[in-house]
Amino acid sequence: MANIKYDLVGHDSESADNDEWPRTVKQKGASRRYIWLLATLFISALGNIFLLYKLNQQTKLGPISRTHYGEKVPVFPLLARFSLLKSYVPTAGLVNDLDVPFAWDTPFSSGDYAEVNKLWYEDEQSDKGIISLDNDYAESLGLPKSQPFAWDSKKKSIYITNGHHNLHCLRNIYISLDQFRNNQSQTIEWQHVLHCLGALRDDIMCNADDTPRFTEKGGRRPGEGQVRKCRDWSKLQEFVQEHAGCFKYIHPENHTMETIERVKYCPNDSPYLPLIRKYFGLPDDWLPWPVEGSK
Ligand SMILES: *[C@@H]1O[C@H](CO)[C@@H](O)[C@H](O)[C@H]1NC(C)=O
Ligand SMILES: *[C@@H]1O[C@H](CO)[C@@H](O)[C@H](O)[C@H]1NC(C)=O
Repeated sequence: MANIKYDLVGHDSESADNDEWPRTVKQKGASRRYIWLLATLFISALGNIFLLYKLNQQTKLGPISRTHYGEKVPVFPLLARFSLLKSYVPTAGLVNDLDVPFAWDTPFSSGDYAEVNKLWYEDEQSDKGIISLDNDYAESLGLPKSQPFAWDSKKKSIYITNGHHNLHCLRNIYISLDQFRNNQSQTIEWQHVLHCLGALRDDIMCNADDTPRFTEKGGRRPGEGQVRKCRDWSKLQEFVQEHAGCFKYIHPENHTMETIERVKYCPNDSPYLPLIRKYFGLPDDWLPWPVEGSK
């Protein structure tokens, strides 16, 4: 069979009967070249679309809606010299894509005092905001160098997200006001409360939020129920969980406690647990969570 086929398409066959065969082969060759040309054009078009998309992303999302840090950094470090390929590299990659209405009253501001109080006192998130980032990654974000992560000190450093720091500050202010309201002595120093107020004010200025809130006659509750675009806090939570800093502020009243005692709280499936157990002489089945003696 194979032999017969070879004879038919062979170039040395001069017979009139076989005349069409070489021509068919030639045509096939031409259409193959055509397909290659098309494929090349297609790939090149795809590449252009990708570049345009990158450029567009840069201008469309802009610095306000996307997590970024100061300077533009290269998308592909190897191509750093081509400025077109620079873009904001996100940390958690958050964009304002979540619809959330403005609310005059929130569970943190209205309702039963005991309930509101409980929410504020239990809303301690600053521990979670303490994260460990790969040094290379931190550098690619243009972040300043930071203190080393105890369990991988050559490769990782410790940072705290600004969002978590803000919540921590807000909670401090609430506690201070609550103590004032109840004629209790202040447990948070005035200077710390002032620092928090200043930091939150700066953050508001930094965000320069230009969302117009609608108004009604009498000017009461502007924007109530109006939907705005927010970043999704739950996505930030996922990000910080994936980059655990292993910090828990245990025994805050103990000012002489070594920091290392507070950084053994990695997730229960963390690869650093054997190291931590060894360092503290803990048994092989020791797990950080739930934390002993905490509610
Ligand atoms: C706080 O003290 C003031 C003055 O001594 C008093 O009038 C007020 O009722 C007290 N408030 C509370 C919540 O105990
Ligand atoms: C504080 O913590 C250290 C361990 O880092 C411990 O040795 C010390 O007894 C603690 N002090 C108090 C007052 O609990």
